[in-house]
Amino acid sequence: MNTAYAQRMSAMKPSSIREMLKLTERPGIISFAGGLPAPELFPVENIRAAAERVLAESGSKAFQYGASEGIAPLREQIAGEMSRRSVACATDDILITTGSQQGLDLLGKIFLDPGDVILTETPTYLAAIQAFQCFEADFQPVATDDQGIIPEAVDELAAGGKVRFLYVIPNFQNPTGRTLSLERRRQLAAIAARRNLVIVEDDPYGRLRYRGEHLPPIKSFDESGRVIYLSTFSKTVAPGFRTGWVVASEEIRDKLVVAKQAADLHTSSFDQLVLERYLRDFDNRQHVERVCKAYGERYAVMDEALRLSMPKGFSWTRPEGGMFLWVSGPETMDALAVLGEAIDNGVAFVPGADFFPRGGGNNNMRLNFSNAGASAIRDGIGRLAAICSRIA
Ligand SMILES: Cc1ncc(COP(=O)(O)O)c(C=O)c1O
Repeated sequence: MNTAYAQRMSAMKPSSIREMLKLTERPGIISFAGGLPAPELFPVENIRAAAERVLAESGSKAFQYGASEGIAPLREQIAGEMSRRSVACATDDILITTGSQQGLDLLGKIFLDPGDVILTETPTYLAAIQAFQCFEADFQPVATDDQGIIPEAVDELAAGGKVRFLYVIPNFQNPTGRTLSLERRRQLAAIAARRNLVIVEDDPYGRLRYRGEHLPPIKSFDESGRVIYLSTFSKTVAPGFRTGWVVASEEIRDKLVVAKQAADLHTSSFDQLVLERYLRDFDNRQHVERVCKAYGERYAVMDEALRLSMPKGFSWTRPEGGMFLWVSGPETMDALAVLGEAIDNGVAFVPGADFFPRGGGNNNMRLNFSNAGASAIRDGIGRLAAICSRIA
């Protein structure tokens, strides 16, 4: 077909995670690839009860068009949740999005012209790279260590005033599992104010902490109104609701609402109503505790299996929450070659290069531990370690 496409499509590549997810559907594959929450933990019975109540009480109203900002009772509940996360805000400060992924897309729409510079951690979330690539952003990866992104490096890069925003995942980062230290959160908020730098703080995993103390978001130190906070119910309830939210200053929020109207008018009314009813009638904090306990155990099994079987020259992160850890091999390792063999041996993971917007990183692997049981984790890591010993 001789079809012409927009210039921007040349920068957009298919996600290898999506391709990988297709493989996980093959029977017998042990998948450390996707970022799937454990489905056996979804609170299905309580969601069923909430849905029945919504249908009984709201009937056809539950399926009507609604406000682009989202339904008020859910926004009110989120405002309460935000204050538990140390961010004081009102119902009107919240915009409901169709997953936090939509928040990323809308931010791209309102902030980015082709060639605009954005700062990201090295490595960073693959689907954020994809979202911002749609707007032909110029990615400037920032030096990052075990405590997360390095504020001095951000400060230096932001000094010219040409950066549109910094994108950062402070808790149990995807893909590395690292957490940004408290002091660095404060420093980033101060840089945002001093350098007129917008910070996009993406926090889908913060509640999934199974060791240590919760840290306040960067947004909680934001006195200049330049920090935009994104979160989601995908990991604390279920991703199929496709319901997330953004907390931003009025000026930014107004622009996001206009962009959202053009994208989908509003997030599903029925999903929002069921979620709101579920949160009102059931104790979701108890549910999150159960999820944290299960993921913490799975993480410990994976860490031990790696310790027992990985060859010399390999190291990995030790996240205190979330769903991923990051394995780094010798500089010469080719994670794509390892993946080829791993798939032949019934194991899948995501090769690190996908998370580096400017290339590199192919000696790394992202391993997800939330979606496999203990014996599958031991078995899968054993197979992966044998391949690494042979070819890495
Ligand atoms: C860092 C990060 N941001 C955003 C998302 C998207 O989440 P949602 O399901 O709310 O769209 C994910 C999902 O895995 C993620 O890891």
